[in-house]
Amino acid sequence: MFRFFQRPIPLVLGLAFLTTIPVLTALVQVVQIPTGTYPDDSARLAIAPVAWFAHVLAGVAFGITGTVQFVRALRHRFGALHRVSGRIFVVSGAVLGLSGLALLAQVTSLRTPLADSARGLFGLALLGALALALAAIRDRDILRHRAWMIRAYAIGMGLGAVGLVFFPIYLVTGQAPTGLGSDLLFVGSWLMSILLGETIIRRTSRPSVQVPA
Ligand code: HEM
Repeated sequence: MFRFFQRPIPLVLGLAFLTTIPVLTALVQVVQIPTGTYPDDSARLAIAPVAWFAHVLAGVAFGITGTVQFVRALRHRFGALHRVSGRIFVVSGAVLGLSGLALLAQVTSLRTPLADSARGLFGLALLGALALALAAIRDRDILRHRAWMIRAYAIGMGLGAVGLVFFPIYLVTGQAPTGLGSDLLFVGSWLMSILLGETIIRRTSRPSVQVPA
């Protein structure tokens, strides 16, 4: 287990696996929203088309660049790519959080206030984590920067953990689970993603590295 978290390739593969369901769902909607071909289940989100489209587009960019940022070989050998991809990650993360909050405010929710409050909190936490990651890199504190970036990714991609739990249920029952039990599962899966991020930070951190300005 410990070795798993220290090895960059399995970690990247694990992250890619976690992001696949939400990124593919979002990618499909990037095409469906402008062409008006989205499924009836999602039609109520059309009340906020700009926030919805920005959200799914940002979700795709955030999921892909977030995974790319973890490839150590790219970070070390192609620093410029790491910086470009990092900027896309931060911008898309900010758009993801803001548009998620806008959707929460505008769309009639199918979930309980518990899940909605949690989503609001996760959206704010994502914005906060990105701001702290930027502040850390301005201070040249690589380790703190890395920790807040991982946190931002784990918060934003909490939907990946939700997908891993809900998708099999959907496949078996033919419908998305609803009600308080389902929302507890929803929030619990999202929290598991955040916990996984904290575990990765803890297991891969070394004493603080300060890079001269
Ligand atoms: C902190 C992060 C996030 C927050 C706060 C958030 C919030 C929301 C909210 C409030 C909605 C409206 C859903 C509804 O009322 O049923 C929504 C929908 C959606 N989100 Fe997110 N989201 C986040 C991250 C992501 C990520 C990372 C992705 C994809 C990579 C994503 C993809 C989607 C998609 C595809 C929908 C439309 C779902 C549907 O068709 O019913 N979201 N999100």
